[in-house]
Amino acid sequence: MRSICILGSTGSIGENTLDVIARHPDLYRVCALTANTQIEKLAVQCRQFKPDIAVVRDAVGAHQLQQLIAELKTEVLHGPQGLIAAVMHQSVDTVMAAIVGAAGLLPTLEAAKAGKRILLANKEALVMAGPIFMDAIAQSRAELLPIDSEHNAIYQCLPHSETSSHGSYRASGVEELLLTASGGPFLKRAIDTLDLVTPDEACAHPNWLMGRKISVDSATMMNKGLELIEAMWLFDMPEDKIQIVIHPQSVIHSLVRYVDGSLLAQLGEPDMRTPIAYGLGWPHRIDSGVKKLNMMTLKDLHFMVADAKRYPAILLAREAARAKGTAPAILNAANEVAVESFLQDRIKYTQIIPIVNQVLQEVVAQKATSLELVLEADQQARAKANMIIKGLTR
Ligand SMILES: NC(=O)c1ccc[n+]([C@@H]2O[C@H](COP(=O)([O-])OP(=O)(O)OC[C@H]3O[C@@H](n4cnc5c(N)ncnc54)[C@H](OP(=O)(O)O)[C@@H]3O)[C@@H](O)[C@H]2O)c1
Repeated sequence: MRSICILGSTGSIGENTLDVIARHPDLYRVCALTANTQIEKLAVQCRQFKPDIAVVRDAVGAHQLQQLIAELKTEVLHGPQGLIAAVMHQSVDTVMAAIVGAAGLLPTLEAAKAGKRILLANKEALVMAGPIFMDAIAQSRAELLPIDSEHNAIYQCLPHSETSSHGSYRASGVEELLLTASGGPFLKRAIDTLDLVTPDEACAHPNWLMGRKISVDSATMMNKGLELIEAMWLFDMPEDKIQIVIHPQSVIHSLVRYVDGSLLAQLGEPDMRTPIAYGLGWPHRIDSGVKKLNMMTLKDLHFMVADAKRYPAILLAREAARAKGTAPAILNAANEVAVESFLQDRIKYTQIIPIVNQVLQEVVAQKATSLELVLEADQQARAKANMIIKGLTR
């Protein structure tokens, strides 16, 4: 039986993870659950799964949770130290890293250093601190399994006789990786109307049900840019060997092209429970509750190149990927601030990527030789993005 800590259990990935776990009470025990502000939702999860530890953002939330679950033996903690205590709990052997954004970096890195099996949904941790994170994995020989559906698909298409899963690897004979993207809700919308997009429209993804930040990233396709950087680290591939292909049906989740002419793909319903079940069960397969893909109903599968005018985020992410060092952390931080401002209706949808661009040009990137330098770049980029936004909204 595996003991699981879910970082971000009240989010979209967190809830899907609990759904899969609930189907296999003989295989998994929930040891720790964490949330930020959704205390009541976390209380409901605690009553169902009875974890040893539950973590929330602050002391006020912890007090509230304590009262809601007074009948349970669950220890309630709070703040960044609480998150670290959750992953480090002696009985935790598997950590689902599903906090959104940079806040996921420190607890996920601690889990990597401690050699726990990491199911990585929080791509931002790898984007920000790729070399440091992968070093920690290699040193502790932690198992790292990608949960992002594209990376999970690629992982499934690589020969596992060559898979170490302890850090990045490049299987022999791989020519390139192809990351598929749905194109988001604005694939066909007239470009000159994009400045009228509302947060709810941006979050209405045509195929996937996700948290609001990643939904906006999917609309701008910054999500694909972050995934490109994530794939570089996971699979040790250079930026120019990773193609982005728009595939609006979201049936093919990504592909690996080999030198012999083979193109391997993983197909499935657009439901995150498939990659989550893959990570939980690895190296075995377990039931995920996902509806079977009916081949007979697959009529037209379309593929197209991402238009740089509609999706300038991709070029920007490629620029940060080539610059390396702290540039991806700067890109990520600026994007988090700009997306949050858009979700709060402070800036227009079409201002998100120009703000990220300005921050990327103005904050000087350094070599990412330490976590401190990465966190410093993250802070500088946030300050710069906030300053630009203040100027725009004055
Ligand atoms: N959703 C998907 O289908 C999908 C697919 C691939 C990859 N991912 C990646 O998975 C991660 C999670 O995405 P999601 O869609 O599940 O996000 P989400 O629905 O917004 O959930 C985020 C989770 O993180 C918690 N959280 C937010 N800010 C926090 C902070 N500062 N400190 C501690 N916890 C915090 C939230 O707690 P509260 O609920 O209390 O706010 C929630 O539990 C992201 O990195 C995303 O890119 C998601």
